[in-house]
Amino acid sequence: MTSAVLTLQNAALSLDGNAGRVDILHDITLSVTKGETLGLIGPSGSGKSSLLMLMGGLEQATSGQITALDQDLTSMDEDALARFRRNNMGVVFQNFHLIPTMTALENVATPLELSGHRDAFDLAETVLDAVGLSHRRDHYPAQLSGGEQQRVALARASAPRPKILLADEPTGNLDETNGAAIVDLLFGLRQKFDATLVLVTHSRSLAERCDRVVRLRDGRIAEETRQEAAE
Ligand SMILES: Nc1ncnc2c1ncn2[C@@H]1O[C@H](COP(=O)(O)OP(=O)(O)OP(=O)(O)O)[C@@H](O)[C@H]1O
Ligand SMILES: [Mg+2]
Repeated sequence: MTSAVLTLQNAALSLDGNAGRVDILHDITLSVTKGETLGLIGPSGSGKSSLLMLMGGLEQATSGQITALDQDLTSMDEDALARFRRNNMGVVFQNFHLIPTMTALENVATPLELSGHRDAFDLAETVLDAVGLSHRRDHYPAQLSGGEQQRVALARASAPRPKILLADEPTGNLDETNGAAIVDLLFGLRQKFDATLVLVTHSRSLAERCDRVVRLRDGRIAEETRQEAAE
């Protein structure tokens, strides 16, 4: 056992589409330790979301190895990956992926129910309250603003207190006050439950709060910076 929670070894990702094969990530070697907060930055199209997908087992690496909590994600099938994510990971997607036919409350409570929480709806209410959305709990995603949907997605990912939380631009659609509340929620998880966070961000102030920042360029790690005085 190492203290590494997430390890990528020479990971690469290429996808075949109608426009041909696209090489998206090249030779990514990276390790994230328990309780660490890693910020992923880089220009649009540099591969940040794709890297997050690899870390969450949502895309399979074309080559290389990815290990999460000492389990080899590259050798798991889709069912095993889904189970692994349900028990250990929270993922906040760039475009939220809320279920359109469920209210905000149901979106947050459903994964809790699936993972066996008996008080799923109570806990979901508490977390929705924490992101300032108790007054919108019965709204469907289409009846929520972009920032509100983002907060529901964050509530949903963080409510089961995952060991690993992967968040794609978690404050991208939020004003300063709500952004700060979300950041407090994320860093609170880390502090209270020793969660490991990987955040994609374009926000300099959010990146500055991370222990370490990795900059991607053209699908490769271009630079890695360890912060001096991270919280
Ligand atoms: N399914 C796919 N098939 C082919 N190419 C893809 C696919 N998904 C992403 N790409 C390409 O991979 C590259 C990296 O995309 P990715 O979404 O990871 O970038 P990003 O760094 O998250 O950008 P942004 O800051 O705009 O969100 C882009 O050039 C994109 O066009
Ligand atoms: Mg992206």
